[in-house]
Amino acid sequence: MIKKETVLSGIRPTGNLHLGNYFGAVQNFVKMQHQADAYFFIADYHSLTTHPTPADLHGNVKQVLAEYLACGLDPDAATLYVQSDLPETTELYLLLNMNAYLGELERTTSFKDKARKQPENVNAGLLTYPVLMAADILIHKADKVPVGKDQEQNLEMARKFAKRFNRMYQVEFFKEPIPYNFGEELIKIPGLDGSGKMGKSEGNGLYLVDDEATIRKKVMKAKTDTGPTVPNSEMPEEIKNLFTIAQIVSKPETVTMFRNSYLDCSIRYGDFKKQLADDITSFTLPIRERILSISSDNEYLKKVVTLGADKARASASSTLNEVRHIIGFRHF
Ligand code: TRP
Repeated sequence: MIKKETVLSGIRPTGNLHLGNYFGAVQNFVKMQHQADAYFFIADYHSLTTHPTPADLHGNVKQVLAEYLACGLDPDAATLYVQSDLPETTELYLLLNMNAYLGELERTTSFKDKARKQPENVNAGLLTYPVLMAADILIHKADKVPVGKDQEQNLEMARKFAKRFNRMYQVEFFKEPIPYNFGEELIKIPGLDGSGKMGKSEGNGLYLVDDEATIRKKVMKAKTDTGPTVPNSEMPEEIKNLFTIAQIVSKPETVTMFRNSYLDCSIRYGDFKKQLADDITSFTLPIRERILSISSDNEYLKKVVTLGADKARASASSTLNEVRHIIGFRHF
């Protein structure tokens, strides 16, 4: 049997999933879990670098777990676990820290950004964030790591730490994890404010947990212009954005109908938005219902994370044993 590629990604437990996340990373994770040996974990240690309250930390972990499960991550297909349930990662982090240098950590863009944003809390965890991320990846000897642009430098550091370890101990032990870009397959969902993409920091998100009234309100408020006056004119960005969303959630004939009415200047944005809100709701409602039912089923969530931790431990403990041996921690 050919060994499947190992794919791994960490999920920050912050905020709810929006449609942009769904059609971006989440859908691809769901696909990958059947094609690769897939590891997905909730990076709760990483989120400590910004000091959440204990209730927020637990609540956020639970919420993202429920949301990813509701979107189709399958705990039997993938290894789905919580970072803090795997102490092997923490030990590897300690060991990697011995070969990570202050200068290179201080030069990391994400560290500099965070230090600027929270000058009152420039903690050592923030500085060594890339080391913990490298430990997450190397503990399972992942081949590929799907990450966004903002994480590419951290992944570069993971490769550097892997190579450095191999060089220091004269071994071919760690693989260099490569970034995995979904590229063409990635559908970009625009926001409703006529600007770029949907995002939580932009405040323009349609969330999977939003109820019907919330979705309707957001869509009705979406930015539009005064409407076409010249037949066959080019659409402004904000109208194109609404059509992009319609293309994903509405029937093709609905999209064609409104597109034609734009072209002949008979479109009424109110009608278009009403239809769009209906179609978004039909799409997200079943997911919302699954999120609510999963997040209230503590027994199930407990089963999921226990299974995940067991599966993750199998691969993690074997890596860690070898690392300890290589470094020179040997049994008497
Ligand atoms: N730093 C990543 C983010 O902010 C989350 C993360 C933690 C991660 N450990 C990882 C991603 C390992 C990929 C691999 O999104």
